Amino acid sequence: MSTSTPLSALQVMQDAPVIPVIVLNDLAYAVPMARALVAGGIRMLEVTLRTPQALACIEAIARSVPEAVVGAGTVRGRADAQAAASAGARFAVSPGYTHAVGQACRDAGLALLPGVASGSEIMMAQEDGFSELKFFPALQAGGPAMLKAWSGPFFDVRFCPTGGVTLQNAHEFLALPNVVCVGGSWLVPAEALVQGDWARITALAQATQALRR
Ligand code: 3PG
Repeated sequence: MSTSTPLSALQVMQDAPVIPVIVLNDLAYAVPMARALVAGGIRMLEVTLRTPQALACIEAIARSVPEAVVGAGTVRGRADAQAAASAGARFAVSPGYTHAVGQACRDAGLALLPGVASGSEIMMAQEDGFSELKFFPALQAGGPAMLKAWSGPFFDVRFCPTGGVTLQNAHEFLALPNVVCVGGSWLVPAEALVQGDWARITALAQATQALRR
């Protein structure tokens, strides 16, 4: 995917059944981890801005793994959006939604998946032109039943449920017409990073292909 063409949130969601939510504590993990996911068929990678090394990891992946499309997670405001874009992120994921974060991502040229957990938040995101949303925290905030309830009034919104989603329950979300993909941290276990067990990460990525509809 060319790095000069802006991405849409829908493109980010449609690439694979799962967007991995990644926490990296060491720059050395970034490139082999990204290559392991790509080898397993997952290209859209959400590296969360939760560690001091996160931006350097995004930069390393953007530079060294051209088959991947790296995005930033845990984007909470303008500074995060600008830093993520400067590091080479192509998309952003936020845990909640504010007009400011929406505008900041637009200004930075980042596709945004805004996080929502209520009808009011969905309406606020839609007011700003966002209709592809992350439902977070999905399991804790109502799970598949909540998405079914939202499909009536919010018939024109598509979701990426994230939070409490696993390989075991992902199909319950993916079976819903208003769900395009799910997000989850299970593809990149902390101990696999520490052990350098890249084959395990590839196997976890490959296992998600069975979730394809
Ligand atoms: C997060 O932001 O931590 C994600 O929602 C991941 O949640 P999970 O660990 O339950 O997949």
